[in-house]
Amino acid sequence: MLNVNHCIPALSAAACVLGLVGCASLTSPSASGRISQKPFGATKDGIPVEVFTLRNANGVEARICNYGGIVLSLQVPDRNGRFGDVVLGYDTLAEYEKESPYFGCLVGRYGNRIAKGKFKLNGQEYSLAINDKPNTLHGGIKGFDKVVWKARPFTSDLGPALELRYLSKDGEEGYPGNLDVKAVYTLTADNSLRLDYTATTDKDTVLNLTHHSYFNLAGRGDILNHVVYLNADRFTPVDSTLIPTGELRPVKGTPFDFNTPTAIGARINQDDEQLKFGKGYDHNWVINKPMKQLGLMARVTEPTTGRVLEVLSTEPGLQFYSGNFLDGKLKGKGGWVYQFRNAFCMEPQHYPDSPNQPNFPSVALKPGQTYQNTIIYRFSAQ
Ligand code: BGC
Repeated sequence: MLNVNHCIPALSAAACVLGLVGCASLTSPSASGRISQKPFGATKDGIPVEVFTLRNANGVEARICNYGGIVLSLQVPDRNGRFGDVVLGYDTLAEYEKESPYFGCLVGRYGNRIAKGKFKLNGQEYSLAINDKPNTLHGGIKGFDKVVWKARPFTSDLGPALELRYLSKDGEEGYPGNLDVKAVYTLTADNSLRLDYTATTDKDTVLNLTHHSYFNLAGRGDILNHVVYLNADRFTPVDSTLIPTGELRPVKGTPFDFNTPTAIGARINQDDEQLKFGKGYDHNWVINKPMKQLGLMARVTEPTTGRVLEVLSTEPGLQFYSGNFLDGKLKGKGGWVYQFRNAFCMEPQHYPDSPNQPNFPSVALKPGQTYQNTIIYRFSAQ
């Protein structure tokens, strides 16, 4: 493990740790960048937590802690080269522990909802905690967002990286199987924050991992003027508790059609049952691409700053959530009070409630198989 405040050029972590070279001087076009590490306090149970700063040669910087794998801040340039933080969150670990609507975290074992907290696998029924009445949401009471992951900063060919590992015990939060999960964040030279998940189990189980950053590409205010393109012809409509009905409904002619880039606010308040159920957008889109193939899911542009976020993934679905449950009760970084629709989430994942929906792509994982999921948030400006 590295010492506090060590700075690691991407090409020569070992040399830097040994103090053999200057940190700032070593860069390369293929994998330039560096990582530094410092304490982020301790959890209420006394477990020390570290914050890792990944920086690429363009000055893009991601700060990530190993409590929940939370992306604490993400500094990206606007069209004039001005850097700004584009994710919501808190300044301190204690605030994350006290109350967080999943700001910036890794989500598991099951991202999104499972109806009534129950599912059957191989004929056996499993019961999960009901933490979003009447359903289970985002892994239950103590999901992957609330555990301390084992961290290993390193450098890959792609850039500075942080490996996070967690062993979720058989029966944890009601899910079967000892699950060994690895999440690797990499900050690449093309200004992408990339997340590669792998996982294995020793018993048949279900798994749906994702990431939950709340983005605001302007860095302030509501997100209604952000313009969204979604690469999807269908979405999964929900009931009033946000559980899919099982239908894959064409978006054509509905406020869910983002094949033509459209402002989030353009249709969000229309008289539409699905929008009412979600209090806005809080739905899963069926992405137009082959299963397991890495492809573009979404492109979001912010007109005043010119910032662009592209979301790519190997997953089949994308939950686009327009921050409808933010209500002015949480005060975040730098005193910004997070109001209704001050941010949006783009969560690549399998469809909600898949364990209970035989027509949805399977989320089962068996011993001997390796779960894989890549999520890329790529930033640019126009
Ligand atoms: C869900 C929302 C939920 C939010 C929790 C999103 O992934 O789709 O319904 O309220 O997470 O912060």
